[in-house]
Parts: sequence; structure tokens; C-alpha cells
Amino acid sequence: MAVGVHQFRQWKREGRPVAVLTAWDYISAQIADQAGADVVLVGDSLAMVALGYETTLPLTLEEMLYHARAVRRGVKRALVVVDLPFLSYQISVEDALRSAGRALQEAGAQAVKLEGGHPALLETVERLVQCGMPVMGHVGLTPQSVNQFGGFRQQGKSPEEAERIFAEAIALEKAGAFSIVLEHIPAALAQRITEAIGIPTIGIGAGAACDGQVLVTTDVLGLSTWQPPFARVYTNLREQAIAAARQFCEDVQQRQFP
Ligand code: KIV
Repeated sequence: MAVGVHQFRQWKREGRPVAVLTAWDYISAQIADQAGADVVLVGDSLAMVALGYETTLPLTLEEMLYHARAVRRGVKRALVVVDLPFLSYQISVEDALRSAGRALQEAGAQAVKLEGGHPALLETVERLVQCGMPVMGHVGLTPQSVNQFGGFRQQGKSPEEAERIFAEAIALEKAGAFSIVLEHIPAALAQRITEAIGIPTIGIGAGAACDGQVLVTTDVLGLSTWQPPFARVYTNLREQAIAAARQFCEDVQQRQFP
């Protein structure tokens, strides 16, 4: 059965963990979906892992929609969630409605993900949900704010920061989000948030108490040259792919193929 946002609260009540993988094109989407991911996230991390940028900031909405359309074609069962890129939703509620609407209408997304939980954003989340566009929240280390944070650092270490992140998560649930990504925050804070809200928390570098976990698929598969310390690398596809491609090149150069 295809996954829908209506299942998330029930999954939390049942204690059923949510598995989330990222995808950036047709093949990575098929891999994530056929592996059993509940959510295939077209994360804006694709700016870094698929397009070679140093941060997620340069990614445009047009680029995201191009990738999201390819992902959509590769997914049969999972819920497809599309990240709204930097500046495609922060300037005004109207902008956010238009960007999210394009993700649903042009790319077939079933939900969008927005970073942050400050009051202006909460109004945006409320309006999107009112208009029938499901929202996944994202607090803690929100990579679009990397310049504000001074790097991809763990957030929520001081009591003040922890309180702010906790309050943002509570407010996002109230605004209508169906789940919230908790990125790179202390495990104790993630557990406190998880116990306080009725929608699933999806952790990445946030400990084992979250209701689900997300990893960037290039990290899981060992395709990237660098992985964050909290990622688990399940195989080394990069080395295997280079070895296979090298064999082909040598075979051609030594007239062994065809
Ligand atoms: O962009 C992304 O891949 C993400 C996940 C790491 C949660 O936001």
C-alpha cells in the first residue's frame, strides 16, 4: 500500500519506526523505494552530493523541481517529500505557497519540507497545511542557516538553544506539520521532543529515541567522499564502481573488450 501522511500519527502511537532515505534522480529513487523506505526525501542535500556545491544554498527551485520530477518517476510506494530550497519560502507566505504548489503540481510531491520554526515560518506552515499541502518540519542543524551557525555544527547544546529548539518543535506540531526532522542535536533533547509531541520525529545525528531515522543515501551506500560522523556507511559502492569502471577502461585499452 502506498504511504500517506495520514499514517504518521498512527505509526507513532503503534511504535512503528519510520525509515527515510534521500534521492536525487530516477535510479536513487528506485533504490530507496525498492529498499522499503517509507519516505523518499528529495533533500536539498542533493546540491552537495549530486551537484558538487559546498552548501545547499545555491540550489534553485527550478533545479529542485527538475530532480524531484525524476525522483517521482522512480517511486511507487514511499511518500515523496520535496525540500523547499533556500529563499523559495522565506520571503513571504505567498512565495511559499507558490513554491510548494509547484512542487506538488509540477513534480508530483506529496509533501514539502521547510527548515526552521520561528514565528514567521509557523504562519507559513499553517497556510500550507490549510491549502492541503502537507509539511514536514526540520529543526536543530538546519543546513540553509550554515552561515548563521558558523559551520555544520551540532545545535541545542546550551540550555537556551535547547529550549528554543524544543519550543519550535512543539509549535510546528501545532501549526500542522505531520512529522519533524531533528538534525544533529543532543540525544537527550531529541528524546524530550519525541516524548512531548504526537507526530513522529525523524532523527539524523539525534540519537536512538527518535520515532524514525533519515540518512543521505550517498552516505549509506558509501558513494560520497566524506560522511558526517553520525552516518552509518553500509557498503562501499564508490570503490566498487571505480574498480568496475577501471576494469572496463583497461579491457578496452588492452583490446580485451569486446
Ligand atoms: O537535505 C537533506 O537531505 C535533508 C536530510 C538530511 C534530512 O534535509
